[in-house]
Amino acid sequence: MSTNKSTVAIIGLGNIGKVVASNLVNGNREIIVASHKLEDAKTFANQLGGLAKAAEVATAIKEADIIILAVWFSTIQELIATYAAELQGKIIVDPSNPIAPDGKGGFKKIIGAEESAGQIIAGLLPKGAKLAKAFGTLGAGSLASAAYQKPDAAVLFYATDDNTIDAQIEALIKDSGFEPVRIGGINQSIRIEVFGELHEFGAIGKPITKSELKLAV
Ligand SMILES: NC(=O)c1ccc[n+]([C@@H]2O[C@H](COP(=O)([O-])OP(=O)(O)OC[C@H]3O[C@@H](n4cnc5c(N)ncnc54)[C@H](OP(=O)(O)O)[C@@H]3O)[C@@H](O)[C@H]2O)c1
Repeated sequence: MSTNKSTVAIIGLGNIGKVVASNLVNGNREIIVASHKLEDAKTFANQLGGLAKAAEVATAIKEADIIILAVWFSTIQELIATYAAELQGKIIVDPSNPIAPDGKGGFKKIIGAEESAGQIIAGLLPKGAKLAKAFGTLGAGSLASAAYQKPDAAVLFYATDDNTIDAQIEALIKDSGFEPVRIGGINQSIRIEVFGELHEFGAIGKPITKSELKLAV
């Protein structure tokens, strides 16, 4: 990689993974993409152009400093268990919302009302791994449409227990076309997960700018 920024891998190339990857490439960031199938990742990387390269999941984790696990909550738990050795010392980004279809066309929370996915994932971290909850605050549609909005960027909230990774997470969020706002430690995750006060599908209702946030709080 030719830049001096942290190397980032995006694992999972569905709604969120593809948008995060595209936004980062639009921000001139080199990325590694990986999914179940290497062929799918290669096809997508080719669509994104020269800043993106495809890799197997294990290779992507090994080569990257920051790994965005753009997969469902249960899959994050599986990947952390499977790649515990490779994830040691890495920065893990968790965008997950712990939800499943409710059978009535909506979604329901699949963990306790007072629990957050972030706190559960934090309890599973491999040795030395650092966790940031980020990139899950907006639906995939808004994450695509609100990136690089002008004149003022829309906010993406993040939470982490580790201040030493703030700069890397904030650079990542900025390079994806948003304004980073740290809301606190992982114990604040519930506020930026779905139905939370700062989630698009919670009280906040839409992408907002930093000045709109100040008015709202
Ligand atoms: N969609 C949203 O608007 C939204 C908003 C905020 C947060 N989120 C969160 O973001 C995460 C991803 O959601 P999504 O909507 O992007 O889901 P999605 O469209 O279903 O994408 C998930 C991706 O993960 C891949 N995958 C599954 N198991 C894998 C494994 N073991 N290794 C590598 N890749 C694997 C899937 O590949 P295959 O298709 O080949 O199985 C698929 O490409 C979830 O935790 C969700 O809660 C989603």
